Amino acid sequence: MKEVQILATGSYVPDRIVTNDELATVIDTNDEWIKTRTGIGERRITTGENTSSIAAKAALKALENSSIKPLDIDLIIVATTTPDCYTPSTACIVQDIIGAANATCFDISAACSGFIYALNIAYQFIKNGTKKNALIIGAETLSKILDWNDRSICVLFGDGAGAAILGCGEEKGLIQIYTGSDGKGANLLKCNAVPIDINNKKLKEKIPQNADNEGYHYLSMEGREIFKFAVKAMGETIKTLLSSSGLTIDDIKYIVPHQANLRIIDYMIKKLKVDKKKFYTNLQYYGNTSAASIPIALDQMNREGLLEKGDKILLVGFGGGLTWGGTIIEWTIDKQISS
Ligand code: COA
Repeated sequence: MKEVQILATGSYVPDRIVTNDELATVIDTNDEWIKTRTGIGERRITTGENTSSIAAKAALKALENSSIKPLDIDLIIVATTTPDCYTPSTACIVQDIIGAANATCFDISAACSGFIYALNIAYQFIKNGTKKNALIIGAETLSKILDWNDRSICVLFGDGAGAAILGCGEEKGLIQIYTGSDGKGANLLKCNAVPIDINNKKLKEKIPQNADNEGYHYLSMEGREIFKFAVKAMGETIKTLLSSSGLTIDDIKYIVPHQANLRIIDYMIKKLKVDKKKFYTNLQYYGNTSAASIPIALDQMNREGLLEKGDKILLVGFGGGLTWGGTIIEWTIDKQISS
């Protein structure tokens, strides 16, 4: 049976850089607090481009880096917490922008684990022969759901998009995938949709639910609880992936974690007793871009020439839902792609 492989990667981040110092001019924060608590130095913020636009740019870069044409793509999955609309899906809008008329398109909602979930879904489609070439994208314009007056949240996140094209080949690519969820933690990291009665003005007096709609569409988070969850979920995911694939941590060249917080990553480095260099990080420059963080990192590593054919890498994510998951990939792309 054919193996499922990553054939190419691409990413796009908005040009606008917002440093911690710039944030400190508009809210009561400072570079030192943000850096010591999170490791974040700056983030990219969109200046008008919506999620579909940045997702399409990342997708086009991945296509440029492959021999696949848009019409060869038969599946597009966008993982996002910040779609342009409730409907249509961001994936359908991307399909139109990039001219992938033969694709089946849909979005998935798994917060910061979204790219891993999308990878898993695309893997199943390709492995069972239903689809041939899948474009999976993690894309976020989180800046539109942040309360820019709430310093405990807005300093943590950024906008961006990362993409990968999956297809089949002879060599082993995706070795092992694992995902999990726990809806009991749903309120720990949350962004509400439109309240049930907001437009039912005539019925509002009769059904007085959600009376207070103030700030309903902003991201909210129990930071300390999420921190505890994150280290537990990462640890368990890495352990499960290694044991189910019969590999050890020494077999893994790089771990590409969800880029949420350097302290979470440092904790994992200590727990696993591994060299700091085994964990790839770029959150210093982008903040937490949720579903986009892992594919942006992967594309950056690919372009920097860090990945060589045969390397085993482990991607691991966690986020709202609660959700978590990871994958071990044997890299099959010839070094090196640059664009
Ligand atoms: N600038 C300056 N001070 C800030 C601040 C900011 N941006 N945000 C919060 N503070 C203040 C608080 O008001 C509080 O002040 P007080 O002690 O006078 O009340 C103090 O800093 C400590 O706040 P606290 O929230 O307890 O900080 P913390 O040490 O728990 O760190 C996080 C907060 C968010 C950095 C940390 O909990 C964390 O990293 N959680 C995980 C978040 C995450 O990764 N989420 C994404 C998952 S996908």
